[in-house]
Amino acid sequence: MNVTVEPFVTKSIEETRQYLAKQTGLVGFFATMGYLHHGHRNLLKKARQECDVVVLSIFINPLQFAANEDLDRYPRDLERDLAMAKEEKVDLVFCPTPDMMYPKPILTQVSVKGITDLLCGASRPGHFDGVATVVTKLFNIVQPDRAYFGLKDAQQVAVINRMVDDLNIPVEIVPCPIIREADGLAMSSRNVYLSEEERKQAVILYQTLQQAQKWINAGLNDTKALRQRVEDTVNACPLADIDYVEILKYPELTPVEDIKGHTIIVALAVKFGNTRLIDNVLLNSEGKPV
Ligand code: PAF
Repeated sequence: MNVTVEPFVTKSIEETRQYLAKQTGLVGFFATMGYLHHGHRNLLKKARQECDVVVLSIFINPLQFAANEDLDRYPRDLERDLAMAKEEKVDLVFCPTPDMMYPKPILTQVSVKGITDLLCGASRPGHFDGVATVVTKLFNIVQPDRAYFGLKDAQQVAVINRMVDDLNIPVEIVPCPIIREADGLAMSSRNVYLSEEERKQAVILYQTLQQAQKWINAGLNDTKALRQRVEDTVNACPLADIDYVEILKYPELTPVEDIKGHTIIVALAVKFGNTRLIDNVLLNSEGKPV
């Protein structure tokens, strides 16, 4: 018989701490902004396999959105999220309100320098301060042994890893592979914003990353030439508007001229109408996906 137990849902920090104080074993944590999709499901499955207690947080963190961004229209469906949490046998779902997380204007921020100035940090100033601050708060509340993060946000993974290292936060960061739709588009809660035509053309991100990998495997190691080819490929797609194309060392996120012998990221951010999509591929020193 397959018995599914309702997850314990808590909106209060105190109740979350009390629940966790009574648990034993390895605590696995997955921080999300909700509107869960199959990609999130995969991370929850991994956490369930590896940990004794699985905690999911659902919180749309206002601190990581600029005034002109999509905070108000960010998709929400708590009922569906809780149904998925139940299917994936999550033990605790923490869904705080903004007032609970930020009862007073915040005077303390966690700011990871350098690696937050480029890629998404350049297009979204202050974004990673908001992410690092809320993740630190969530880590302090949940005190997980392991925290799971998707590599679609590879820069976020690099930032959190560095923050945890620099501040001696006792948690193991577990990076998880990008989960894709059948045609290759990376799963994202923001994909729902795309019109039918934008959705069709959005596959260009994945196709270009695949092509980049082929060029690298065929011996193209010069990042300037590679970047130009990637840009030309994306630009040939009528609705695609490039925000950035970068090829950098990973996880240092430093420039590299010749990628030979380095682990690198080919990272893209492309706008379709008002929707900004990101995707990337991580390749090891032999040009194989990491
Ligand atoms: O990746 C996200 O969904 C968010 O940046 C996170 C880690 C939940 C922090 O708000």
